[in-house]
Amino acid sequence: MSYKDKKIYIAGHRGMVGSSIKRNLEAEGYRNLVFKDSSELNLVRQADVEKFFEMEKPQVVIIAAARVGGILANNTYRAEFIYDNLMIESNLVHSAYKHGTEKLIFLGSSCIYPRLAPQPLKEEYLLSDYLEFTNEPYAIAKIAGIKLCENYYRQYGCNFYSAMPTNLFGPNDNFDLETSHVLPALIRKFHEAKTEKKTEVILWGTGKPRREFLYVDDLAEAVRFLIEKINAKDLYEQGITHINIGTGKDLSIDELARLVSDITGYSGKIVYDTSRPDGTPRKLMDVSRINKLGWKHTTSLKEGIERAYSWYLKQFFR
Ligand SMILES: NC(=O)c1ccc[n+]([C@@H]2O[C@H](COP(=O)([O-])OP(=O)(O)OC[C@H]3O[C@@H](n4cnc5c(N)ncnc54)[C@H](OP(=O)(O)O)[C@@H]3O)[C@@H](O)[C@H]2O)c1
Repeated sequence: MSYKDKKIYIAGHRGMVGSSIKRNLEAEGYRNLVFKDSSELNLVRQADVEKFFEMEKPQVVIIAAARVGGILANNTYRAEFIYDNLMIESNLVHSAYKHGTEKLIFLGSSCIYPRLAPQPLKEEYLLSDYLEFTNEPYAIAKIAGIKLCENYYRQYGCNFYSAMPTNLFGPNDNFDLETSHVLPALIRKFHEAKTEKKTEVILWGTGKPRREFLYVDDLAEAVRFLIEKINAKDLYEQGITHINIGTGKDLSIDELARLVSDITGYSGKIVYDTSRPDGTPRKLMDVSRINKLGWKHTTSLKEGIERAYSWYLKQFFR
């Protein structure tokens, strides 16, 4: 049976990542997708998750449901970030095992790597040093998710593994300045500064940290590639527990801010509030493994930001 006919449950299908995976699979002719939003199925509740798996018995599970946010949200809601994420992934992985799911892909993020890990980040740097404090609860939960998949493979032979995308952006991103990631926050700040004819935009930190960004529809392509081509043993037999997904290219926050200001048409000054935290100095994924396996990103950063900005305008100002 082709993957197109298998019953695939995308947990978190309304989020930025889940909705992109849903669009991608539907466009490619996948016919048997199942979804539940958080009001119908709260994935933190174990009994509800078990009941859902007993009824639906999905053959493939993609975990794109998580409690997610930028530095401020991660650092403020520390207990909620660790609790919700541990519960969501434990409930899903265990139910998938109990109900015979044939393949499960767990999505984490690059914050699982130590704060001062050598760059670019190779898969094997996991657990080699201390984490960044501001997002430690989230990172610990995500590392637990990787270890759940690995050890359900080692003990039970489950075809469960993890993929770690770099920073993502695109349609359905979160533009709430209290909880958003850096790129959507920049789009919103520069757009508002342009329309309100402001002469300066203040950004947190020094502008020096370097980051990598992947357009979310490219990630969805990568997830489909993993569903169709890669199995747990392909990673674990190589001695790795997860696979990085990114572009392999980074830029400074200041370079990013200038790119976003050009795309949005803001022409005032950019000022840095250096009393605010910078977070990890550099985060760049080593993506040579997934590239060698046969997947590479296709959308340039500029093209991706243009698409994300046009989605933002349509969504909020039409
Ligand atoms: N955004 C990024 O830059 C980025 C980068 C790397 C990795 N990732 C990974 O990608 C995954 C998804 O991120 P995202 O940016 O798409 O986040 P998002 O837009 O905030 O979406 C999160 C999704 O999780 C669901 N969810 C949260 N708590 C839930 C609960 N208790 N029960 C059921 N569903 C729940 C939400 O469902 P409802 O909408 O139904 O409430 C939502 O659909 C995460 O694992 C994250 O680590 C994201």
